[in-house]
Amino acid sequence: MLELWPVMSPHAHAKILRRDATKARSVPGVAAVLLAEDIPGENNTGPVRHDEPLLATDEVCFQGQIVAVIVGESLKVCRAAAALVEVDYEVLRAVVGIPAAVAAGSFLTEPHTLTRGDCAAALTAAPCRMEGEFALGGQEHFYLETHAAWAEAGEDGAVTVNSSTQHPSEIQAIVAEVLHVARHKVVVQAPRMGGGFGGKETQGNAWAAYVALAAVKTGRPVRVQLDRDLDMALTGKRHPFHAKFSVGHDAEGRLLAAHVELTSDGGWSLDLSQPILDRALFHLDNAYYLPAVHFTGRVAKTNTVSHTAFRGFGGPQGMLVIEEIMDRVARACGLAPEVVRERNLYHGTGETNRTHYHEDIGDNRIQTIWAQAKTEAKFAERRREIEAWNGAHPRVKRGLAITPVKFGISFTLTHYNQAGAYVLIYADGSVQVNHGGTEMGQGLHVKMLGVAMRELGVKAEAIRIMATATDKVPNTSATAASSGADLNGMAVAAACGTLRERLAPVAAGLLGTTADKVEFAAGEAQATDSGARVAFAKVCAKAYTERVSLAATGYYKTPGIYWDWAKSAGRPFHYFSCGAAVAEVEVDGYTGMSRVRRVDVVHDVGNSLNPGIDRGQIEGGFVQGMGWLTSEELKWDPKGRLLTHSASTYQIPAISDAPMEFNVTLLSHAAQPNTIHGSKAVGEPPLMLAFAVREALRDAVGSFGSPGGQVPLASPATGEAVWAAIQGRAASSMKSGLRRNAPRAN
Ligand code: MTE
Ligand code: HPA
Ligand code: CA
Repeated sequence: MLELWPVMSPHAHAKILRRDATKARSVPGVAAVLLAEDIPGENNTGPVRHDEPLLATDEVCFQGQIVAVIVGESLKVCRAAAALVEVDYEVLRAVVGIPAAVAAGSFLTEPHTLTRGDCAAALTAAPCRMEGEFALGGQEHFYLETHAAWAEAGEDGAVTVNSSTQHPSEIQAIVAEVLHVARHKVVVQAPRMGGGFGGKETQGNAWAAYVALAAVKTGRPVRVQLDRDLDMALTGKRHPFHAKFSVGHDAEGRLLAAHVELTSDGGWSLDLSQPILDRALFHLDNAYYLPAVHFTGRVAKTNTVSHTAFRGFGGPQGMLVIEEIMDRVARACGLAPEVVRERNLYHGTGETNRTHYHEDIGDNRIQTIWAQAKTEAKFAERRREIEAWNGAHPRVKRGLAITPVKFGISFTLTHYNQAGAYVLIYADGSVQVNHGGTEMGQGLHVKMLGVAMRELGVKAEAIRIMATATDKVPNTSATAASSGADLNGMAVAAACGTLRERLAPVAAGLLGTTADKVEFAAGEAQATDSGARVAFAKVCAKAYTERVSLAATGYYKTPGIYWDWAKSAGRPFHYFSCGAAVAEVEVDGYTGMSRVRRVDVVHDVGNSLNPGIDRGQIEGGFVQGMGWLTSEELKWDPKGRLLTHSASTYQIPAISDAPMEFNVTLLSHAAQPNTIHGSKAVGEPPLMLAFAVREALRDAVGSFGSPGGQVPLASPATGEAVWAAIQGRAASSMKSGLRRNAPRAN
């Protein structure tokens, strides 16, 4: 198997004047050096807009953009040859960061807008007005397994690609376009990923295309696996955002109008930036009823990697903006943030329980969840305790906060809300389940195993969940939008249902009853009238001899949803996933260092398909959200070079950063209508529960110095940012003569 290594641009933005691979091609052990001219089909891997050349020809738009790939016997050989590829550049000005892009008028999209009511009139009529801006940072996925792919050419111009991807069908389509073959020539397999988090929804496209192209060109199997630095430097991240807002409210902190302008940093190409920005606009309400809004957003084009899907898909950014607004409004009104948050929650029926895109929330669980979270966390009692504790501790402060989550479930691109399955039963009663979803550690395969066990009435050992492959289930959607279990679960259930119906008459024959009196459970078929039983394997063997087909497909599409993007009209989400979190932190005023002492979560997962997995998703999502909000900081230098491209400079949370006490309650009596076995999606929503940690930090910072006033806090609220915020408090307290309680500046 050959290895592959890229030749990358040292510049964030440059014209390519000359490319010459002659010397590199003559290095012993080099099997091929591939340039744009070697691509038989389209030199493009852009998933939505075709704006991502696989190999650069005349321009490079981010540092690390790939101009050539070396294919050779070893990585050592490839690297040596890569250094010999000659590329002449004329360096151009790089646009880095949102402010620079806005100043330069550099955008990837036109503004997109969602409105409710007459926002301008409501702003004018509101008793209180507040304007502001807020910038928030992105996030590296830091999946433990870096991007990887390998390919092998077959007969008739066919190629098999194994890819670490959340979207095998898109890899298939891209590889087919690059190779200029029909999709039936390309089989993509995705056994499992060591984490994806959205970072492998589109960003594996190029790597799969390189190995496929190299395998076809050399006739040898070819593999690539990025090292950590390369993965961090070359692949897109969660989008950084900037928000500018003007809100109207009353003296009790009720929001009456909100005008918000979002700008996201899309990086050099569009990728999924448009639907990500849309999801931010959809989630600017979080769980709050906003009577009049004008929400608009635009994607900036910059000379960095192309930012992409990341758990929450723009939702977290939109929700963080409204949480920031809630806090500023509360402080402007001199009210506790939890009081203002509670007053603004969606409530009742009709308009106050309808989103700004006019979707009825229906069975609104947020009120129940909020009340339960406050009770379970003993919020009021601990608020008093913490106040007393802070009074006695001048240099270390504790903070407490509660925040809600409401997250819309469904792809907003309506046609993505479909899934297929293919279930095969062998004559010995063993079962293979194929479905269109990919496993990335979220437990989808185990959930699908559970669905098939329940539908066929067999034990776990009887079922094998197969690696995801495009030649088993075609035209699949990305495993994303938290909908993997919802969509594929229904498809698996449909396929199993078909097989059960075919097996029931066979079993009835063996049991001496009629098909309507047969039940499948615990690896047996049972007659409900006589109680007679026969092993599932015996039924399958008999079905084979009776010439009954033992393979079936299943298919599902989410009912009742549609979204007309151009008109901003429709009902985009099947349902909403809700939760609330209470967090308590302790902050050291000298260093800004903090510790999360306790977290209480109440979250709605419907009738859980697997409570162990769902708890894992809630805890993991929460800690990943904490990382985004409190420790992970991406830094690019003015030349567009990512400075934080390794674990030594980019700080993800460690186990020691997890909450010291972590209580997670799954909402009970929560069956969701019209979903697989009454369950709800869980993958993304819990990430946003971590807002409670950010707000608890702010609460603690606010306890330094004199009470009252705004408590500005950067996002991420890193140790440095918290320290700076405390210095801000100390400075304002000095003015008011309350310096004793504040730590000194060093
Ligand atoms: N959990 C683990 N362990 N690893 C992951 O990569 N991805 C998250 C979430 N949970 C992820 C994870 C993301 S971004 C999504 S969209 C969902 O899982 C996808 O899986 P599901 O739709 O099957 O929930
Ligand atoms: N999350 C939410 N919505 C989406 C995603 C995702 O990862 N991908 C496409 N739509
Ligand atoms: Ca982008």
